Amino acid sequence: MWKPRRPAPSLNFRDSFGHHRPNQHHPRKPLAFHIEHRLLSTRAPSASLFAPKTSRAISTTTACRTHQSKRSTFATRRTPRRALRARLLFATAAAAVSITFFWASHRPFSNTNNTMGSKLAPSNPSEVMVIRNITPNIVTFSVPFSRFGRLPVGGRGTLVRLTSGALAVFSPVALTPEAKAKVAELGGNVRYIVAPDIEHHIFVTEWAQAYPDAVLVGPEGLPEKRAKMSLSPENKNVGKEPFAAVFTAKNKRDIKIAPDFDADFEYEFFDSHPNKELAFFYKPDRVLIQADLLFNLPADEQYSCMPEADKPKNAGLLARIFMSLQSAQGEAKWQKRFLWYAASSKNRDGFNTSVRRVAAWDFNTIVPCHGDTVVGGGKALFEKVFEWHLKGRK
Ligand SMILES: [Fe+2]
Repeated sequence: MWKPRRPAPSLNFRDSFGHHRPNQHHPRKPLAFHIEHRLLSTRAPSASLFAPKTSRAISTTTACRTHQSKRSTFATRRTPRRALRARLLFATAAAAVSITFFWASHRPFSNTNNTMGSKLAPSNPSEVMVIRNITPNIVTFSVPFSRFGRLPVGGRGTLVRLTSGALAVFSPVALTPEAKAKVAELGGNVRYIVAPDIEHHIFVTEWAQAYPDAVLVGPEGLPEKRAKMSLSPENKNVGKEPFAAVFTAKNKRDIKIAPDFDADFEYEFFDSHPNKELAFFYKPDRVLIQADLLFNLPADEQYSCMPEADKPKNAGLLARIFMSLQSAQGEAKWQKRFLWYAASSKNRDGFNTSVRRVAAWDFNTIVPCHGDTVVGGGKALFEKVFEWHLKGRK
């Protein structure tokens, strides 16, 4: 009687995914199989060396099944491995793009330093500045500003009236007659001019000349940078005013500014951030004030007095890509990547510690320099954007 013969074992079997899976019955098995088989035989002599052939056959089958099972698991992992490789590739590309955009947004081109004043100020600040009381003690001065003339990130100065009645200005912008009037309305006693990083300092001199009783506060590197800039005749707006308080990596846990300032503010220095960011928490009104630590693009408020065609929503493709990368809305994944791969890469543990210190503050509002102010829900937004740093892992 005719019986169908079993097909001969194939050497180059490929599964439905197209992955090469050497036939387990073929003598040219992987070395791992032989080692495994040998070990199993040694461990179970009764079932291998001294056992009848049937038992040995069973043992071999068991070993093969074990092997097959492992091969099968390995084969199953190959598809995820490919996916993993693809993800890794994507993450690397994303990180490269992130770092490039981060650099573009935070590290001005060298010639920008030489003409900073003209590029950072709108030509008609009085006409386009939005002055807004976000609390009875805090006023923001929002202006349009495009980095490189292409990326509409906006700019914002913040004026705070301390419990003592003194005023502190953060990231000062152009001191327009309207801004001066607002300062006078809050008492006019400007005692502190704060540059919260090494970028937001261009109007420090203008404010210092208008309010000579004020002291300057800033991060390490800024006095040197300003001194260098002031040598250029193109930077007439950058003076040589001395800084009363300079945050450094070493003194950041001990530095004091003044009793009335310290009574109202908590502050944290992100010394590992490329821009040397300072974050300030105004306790009486539960407001976090910072510059480039967290972006909240698009800068709708800052461009609200601009013609329709100049508003961020009508910006070019590059600008719109940039705005989506620096958004704090939704999952904010790209900003998270910025902060993880670029901003904190120098000293992530130190950066994480600073993030946790800020997250411990009881703020409800965030005033960023770029993008809209977050009134209410600021803490939740901060925790979302800095989620990886708070966890200490991605
Ligand atoms: Fe900035």
